[in-house]
Amino acid sequence: RGTIGILTAGGDCPGLNAVIRGVSKAAMHYGWKVMGVRDGFRGLVENRMERIESINVSGILTQGGTFLGSSRDKPHKIRMGDKVMDMTDVAVANYKKQRLDCLVCLGGNGTQKNAFRLQKAGMNVLTLPKTIDNDVAGTDITFGFDSAMSIATEAIDRLHSTATSHHRIIVCEIMGHDAGWLALGAGIAGGADVILIPEIPYNLEAVAESILNRRRTGKRFSIMAVAEGVKSIKEAANGKTGKKAAKKLQTPEEEELRRRAKAQGVHLVEEPVANKIARELQAMTGVEARVTSLGHVQRGGSPTPFDRLLCTRLGTKAGELLKENHFNALVAVKGNTCVPIPLEEIAGKKRIVPTDHPWLQTARLVETCLGDEVV
Ligand code: F6P
Repeated sequence: RGTIGILTAGGDCPGLNAVIRGVSKAAMHYGWKVMGVRDGFRGLVENRMERIESINVSGILTQGGTFLGSSRDKPHKIRMGDKVMDMTDVAVANYKKQRLDCLVCLGGNGTQKNAFRLQKAGMNVLTLPKTIDNDVAGTDITFGFDSAMSIATEAIDRLHSTATSHHRIIVCEIMGHDAGWLALGAGIAGGADVILIPEIPYNLEAVAESILNRRRTGKRFSIMAVAEGVKSIKEAANGKTGKKAAKKLQTPEEEELRRRAKAQGVHLVEEPVANKIARELQAMTGVEARVTSLGHVQRGGSPTPFDRLLCTRLGTKAGELLKENHFNALVAVKGNTCVPIPLEEIAGKKRIVPTDHPWLQTARLVETCLGDEVV
């Protein structure tokens, strides 16, 4: 047997350590030597790797984050000092230097694309679907999603009692990038009165009218679960799509901040999109509104039992694929099983909420306003 490398890339989430453990234990079981790559693809480019032994993955099943560290760097476009460079050749050279036979990459959509590029550059890769956003193509579910959904649901539960006491609208902004899975799932589970997701452009008049209708029946508070990537019907008609468009800052000073952040290679600290929605709704309804932006709290802490099980299943499935020398695939969930899907079939694709998804009908049947019509 040979040697595998494992790296964790992109935004972290609960369950990464559980997958590292699952892959490592199963790979060691089948006789592979395991190397951990530090800080995602940056560590690959900088050749920062160290041996993972059984003792290193002991006790990490329940720990949040990733003990290997993560980064959003891409080998083909990576900041080295003050330059952005294509370091694909260096990544491949380090893979060979370490005598790796396969690189196992835990990550979301960006990672699927980066791993596929490395596959085309001559490396063997296996990927596992990580993200709280649940938007990786080719798999029914991603690990991290259930944990984040449970955190967001608990937050909505807690917002209910304070919103009721003060008869307020509370707009709760939920992550998810350009997909609405997290806001929709947590919104339904938490009983939100309004759920706005990027896949359904919203009409604020319809939302305001639905909130006023609730008040007419004696329900003086309203909880809104708003995905960070939402857009209004007008914004959608102007071709504005996605999280970045929704949060785009307008003033020249803010544009200057954006330019500087880009030059520094970091993302701008954005204003929650929920702020604007809350301000406008308060003006339209006369009902006091407040905002809670859940942010990175949704990515922190211990994975749920569902995610621990999922991570262990996915990780050990990767180990079985290694045993068969089955490479260049995403280890995906299909129904009740974990299956390999060729990377070339899914790299560059995204899985957003289809407009006929049953969860949407579920929400409508419990009188949830989805932003497109008055309830
Ligand atoms: O992809 C996971 C995610 O948490 C998204 O929901 C969110 O848009 C993004 O990452 C935030 O990224 P960062 O950690 O760079 O702030």
